[in-house]
Amino acid sequence: MAATPEQQINSLRDELRHHEHLYYVLDSPSISDAEYDAMMNRLKALEADHPALITPDSPTQRVGGKPREGFAKVAHSRPMLSLDNAYNEDELRAWDKRVCDALPASDPPSYVCELKLDGLSLALHYSAAAHGAAQLERGLTRGDGTIGEDVTTNVRTIRSVPLSIPATKLKAAHLPASFEVRGEVILPQTAFVKMNEDRVAQGLAPAVNPRNAAAGTIRTLEPNIVAQRRLDFYAYFLLRDGEPLLPLHSETLKALATIGLRVNTHWRTANTIDEVLDFIANAEPLRDTLGYEIDGVVIKVDSAAQQRRLGFTGKAPRWAIAYKFPARAATTRLDDVLFQVGRTGKVTPVAALAPIFVGGTTVSRATLHNADEIERLGVRIGDLVEVERGGDVIPKITRVVEEPNATTARHKITFPADCPRCKTPLVREEGEVDFRCINASCPARLEEELRHFASRSVMNIEGLGEVMVSQLLGHTIAEHEAEASMGQNGDAPTEAPTRKALVHSLADIYHLKKEDLLHLERIGEKTADSLLEQIENSKKQPLNRVLLGLGIRHVGERTAQALAEEFGSMDALIAASVEDLTRINDVGPKVAEAIREFFDNRKNLDLVERLRKAGLTFTAEKRVRGTRLEGLTFVLTGTLPTLTREEAKEKIEAAGGRVSGSVSKKTDYVVAGEEAGSKLDKANALGVKVLDEAALLELLG
Ligand code: IVH
Repeated sequence: MAATPEQQINSLRDELRHHEHLYYVLDSPSISDAEYDAMMNRLKALEADHPALITPDSPTQRVGGKPREGFAKVAHSRPMLSLDNAYNEDELRAWDKRVCDALPASDPPSYVCELKLDGLSLALHYSAAAHGAAQLERGLTRGDGTIGEDVTTNVRTIRSVPLSIPATKLKAAHLPASFEVRGEVILPQTAFVKMNEDRVAQGLAPAVNPRNAAAGTIRTLEPNIVAQRRLDFYAYFLLRDGEPLLPLHSETLKALATIGLRVNTHWRTANTIDEVLDFIANAEPLRDTLGYEIDGVVIKVDSAAQQRRLGFTGKAPRWAIAYKFPARAATTRLDDVLFQVGRTGKVTPVAALAPIFVGGTTVSRATLHNADEIERLGVRIGDLVEVERGGDVIPKITRVVEEPNATTARHKITFPADCPRCKTPLVREEGEVDFRCINASCPARLEEELRHFASRSVMNIEGLGEVMVSQLLGHTIAEHEAEASMGQNGDAPTEAPTRKALVHSLADIYHLKKEDLLHLERIGEKTADSLLEQIENSKKQPLNRVLLGLGIRHVGERTAQALAEEFGSMDALIAASVEDLTRINDVGPKVAEAIREFFDNRKNLDLVERLRKAGLTFTAEKRVRGTRLEGLTFVLTGTLPTLTREEAKEKIEAAGGRVSGSVSKKTDYVVAGEEAGSKLDKANALGVKVLDEAALLELLG
C-alpha cells in the first residue's frame, strides 16, 4: 500500500534528522549535500501541500521566527555560574589539595578533563512531547547568571542542536523526556573569518574575536542572519530541576552524545592531578588544529555526590576549575610602521612585521593603536617585539623584547604631522588620543566613506564593492590588490593613485556615465549597466539610510532611524538645534553636537544639496506620538512581570514619554520590577515616584 503523506513526511524527517546528526554533530556525512538538499526539498514540497502536518520540530522549521523586538528574561533553574581560574601547575595542585581535603580520605576524587571552549554558555530546555520524544522548548543565554535571555528562535537555527530527540535515543541513554542541557555556543574560525569579511565589505567594523562574534550573533534580532552564521553548540551538562541527572559527569557526557547532542571528543577521566597535567600538556598543542578557539582546560570532579559535598563559593563551584592557557605570543622584528586613514579621518599606526606564525596564522601586521601606545611601548623600527594574539583578529604588540645591537639601524617612529594621503596637517583634539585628518575631501577618507555609503546596510549598492571603489578613485586593480594584501582591515590605500579619479565626492556616483565606467579594468557593458541601475535604485533607500550614509560621527543605525522618524525630513533635521536634538531618546549631547557640527559645515551642506538634486529620499514618515505622557521622563529597572524592558519603553514612548537610563532629579517616574537594583535606591533617596508594572499600565490608560 502506498504511504500516506503523513507517513512520507515522518520518514523524510527521520532521515533528514539522521543526516543532520551525521553531518553537524559527528562530522561524518554519508550522503552528498545535493542529496540532502533534494530530500529537504521533497519534505518542503509535501509540507506545502499539507500545511496542517507542519510541526515545530520539523527540520524545515529551523529558521521560522520573524525579526524580534527584544528577548524575554527568564530565570535559570539554578544559577549559571562561572569558574575559578588556575594559571599554572602550582595553582592547580593547590585546588586539587583543597578538593581532596574536603572529601573523606576513603573517598578520593576522580576528575573529568575537558577543553575550555571560548564561547558563551547556553541552557537548553527539553520537554516531553508526543510519542515519548523530547522537544526543544527553550534556549537561554547566561544573562547575569540568575536570569537569562530567551533566544530560542536563534538557538533553533544551530544545526548541532536537535529540535527533537526520539524516544528510542532517550531510552538507550536511560533518560526521561524532560531535562536541561547546558553547554557552550561557539563560532568556528572559518565562520568567524567569513562573518568579518562580510562586515568589512558592508563597511562595518570587524568583530574582535570569535567569542564576541558568537555573543553578538546569538543576540541578533533576525533569526535569518543567525542561521547564516553557522554557530555550533557543544553540550557538557545534563540537569533536571537544576541538579545533575546522572551520578557521574563522565556518564553525562556519554549520555549527551547518545541522545544526539554534540559533545567535544577531547575529554578524559583522570584519577590523579598528574594525569590532569598530562591532559593539559596534550591539549595545548591542539589549539591550532581544532578550527575553533579554546582558552584552557576545565577540570571537574566526576561524582555528583562529591560535587554536592564540595558545593559552591559565591560565584563558582568548588568542584571545578579552569586551567587557562597563556596567550599565544611570538617574537619578531618590527620592520616598518604604516599610517592608515579611516572614514572619520582617524589615523592609525599599523606595525609591519617580519612574518611570524602565531596562534595558527601567519601574522605580518599588528595594531599600534595610537601615538600614546607607541610612546608607552618605547618601540622603534628594527626592534624585536613580542606579538600577542588572543582570540582577537588583530594582533597586538605587547613589549619590546630586545633592541638590536648598535650595528643595526634603529629608527624612532615619528607620527606624521600631515595626512599621509592628502598632506593636510593632522589635528589632535584636546583630550583625544587620536590624530585626525580633518580634510573632508581627503581621498583616503573618501574611499572609506564610499565603501560605507554603498554597503549593504546603508545604500545597498552591491556592485560598488571595494575593488570598484578603488577604481573609481583612480587606482588600478594591481594597486588595489597590493594595498589590500598589506592592510589588515581593508583600510584605504594611502598611496596616491596613478589614474584620474572619476569620483571626488559621494554625490559624484550619481553622475557616473557608462562611457567612463567602460574605461575601467574588467568592466564590460553588462557590469556597467548593472552598476548604474543599482546606483539609480539606491535613490529609493529611505531617509534613515541616507543619514547613516553621510557618515556623521556617532550616528549609527539606531540614531539615524530615530532622527528620520522624529524629524520626518532632512530639512527639519538640518534646522534642528542641539536642544531639539537632545530631546530625542538615544541622542546625548555628544551626538547632538556632532550632528550640528556636521550640518554647520559648508562642504557637508553642499554634499547634502547635491544628493537632494540627484533625487535621493529626503523625507520619512514622522512618528505619530500620543500626548498622554508628554514631558514625562521614566527610568526602567528590574524585571517586570509581563512586559520586557523593550516593550515597556515602546509603550511609554508611543504615549509621548521619554525613557532615560539613569535616575536624576529630573526623573518623573521609576518603573521597578523584580530585582530592581541601585536605580530604585536612588529613586527613593531622591524622592522620585516609583511605579510597578500595573501602575504604569494604568498611567498609560
Ligand atoms: S563548565 C559552573 N565546561 O567557561 C560553570 N564551562 O570561565 C561551569 N566554558 O561560563 C561551566 N568550556 O561559558 C564548563 N567544558 C566546559 C567549558 C566551559 C567553556 C565556559 C563557560 C563558563 C566559562 C567559565
